Amino acid sequence: MHVPTFIERKRDGAVLSAGEIEQFIDGYTRGEIPDYQASAFAMAVFFRGMNAAEMGALTRAMMRSGRVLQYPAGSPPKVDKHSTGGIGDKVSLVLAPLLACDDLWVPMISGRGLGITGGTLDKLESIPGFNVSLSEEQTLAQLARIGVAMIGQTADICPADKKLYALRDVTATVPSQPLIVASIMSKKLAESLDRLVLDVKFGSGAFMKTRADAESLAAALTAVGSEMGVQTSHLLTPMDEPLGHTAGNALEVAEAVEALQGRGPDDLVELTLDLATRVSCVPREKLRAWLDDGTAWNKFVALVEVQGGDGTALERILKLHHAPVIRDLPSPTTGRLTRMDAGAIGRACVALGAGRAKSTDRIDFAVGFSAIRKVGDTIAEGEPLLRIHARTDESLRGVQPDLERAIEIR
Ligand code: URA
Repeated sequence: MHVPTFIERKRDGAVLSAGEIEQFIDGYTRGEIPDYQASAFAMAVFFRGMNAAEMGALTRAMMRSGRVLQYPAGSPPKVDKHSTGGIGDKVSLVLAPLLACDDLWVPMISGRGLGITGGTLDKLESIPGFNVSLSEEQTLAQLARIGVAMIGQTADICPADKKLYALRDVTATVPSQPLIVASIMSKKLAESLDRLVLDVKFGSGAFMKTRADAESLAAALTAVGSEMGVQTSHLLTPMDEPLGHTAGNALEVAEAVEALQGRGPDDLVELTLDLATRVSCVPREKLRAWLDDGTAWNKFVALVEVQGGDGTALERILKLHHAPVIRDLPSPTTGRLTRMDAGAIGRACVALGAGRAKSTDRIDFAVGFSAIRKVGDTIAEGEPLLRIHARTDESLRGVQPDLERAIEIR
């Protein structure tokens, strides 16, 4: 294949054939096509889009770039959830072990931080020792043992998405419907699921800014899932303010631990239950009971330990990852909180070091925000609107003006 011509054709709006797309993904996965050509291709898709046939072909090529999980006969139903990405969205950390309390297998393949949104893998890696790179064999053995595995794309499973995902993160090519569909569904189809629920987010902290765009993304995602034989449902959920009270890797793990111990914030717990009931066979109240009575927490500790993590670190994660500079942002006035802009909080999180600007950047697990107040709260002058966790005074001062503009009190 002559790659510059392939890129040029997409740049100029041509429809690509399934064969061409497959050849490109194959060459990219093998390392024969370099990142700079893949970046140019992603940017061409960003501007030109893809029709349904191209999107399906890209998804299948990415899924087939690695192994597709094959389960032993008679194993329990396989279920999962995926979010299109948000700020403070730690649902997967709570939902995966919760679903595995039922007689289900949850072979969750997640991603790292993408654009301004946080990633499940980065959050999990803030737990000392946690290994997100399991082989197919290890994943299957773990599912048989505890019913849940939380892994990333590897050289074995979805290697094309592993590479393209990291590239999109740092080349401003994330908010493209075909690239999102192929990225999410290649991972989910590689899991050979029976049931999948998608959390399709819209708002300032999501890739889809409007409900109409999120509806169109949801339709494209479900069409690919259904076509491939996966029972796929979705929820459209707002992402105008962060989910829960934290944003940032270790801070979110700490909040997920609270939720798994029955003390989670309402919005996080209710969304987790809304999504879980779409793929679980047990009633919502039973799922809630598993959060309240320690069943889901015990499952999470087991998961962490089986994947090499230190289960005893979970309840002291904020001591292990303690930002040197922690300061409250006080309210300038008394009134009702009307805006806590998720997009601005996400950008500030990345600026503090919780995300990447270059693919080689190291994540700072300790930084981010806690005690984030919710829209609708009544706040007195001087009361904290949120707490900033920063590595340096300078980085804290750097994000403060944007945060002040992102918050509105009336
Ligand atoms: N989640 C993914 O896995 N990929 C995307 O492109 C967006 C959200």
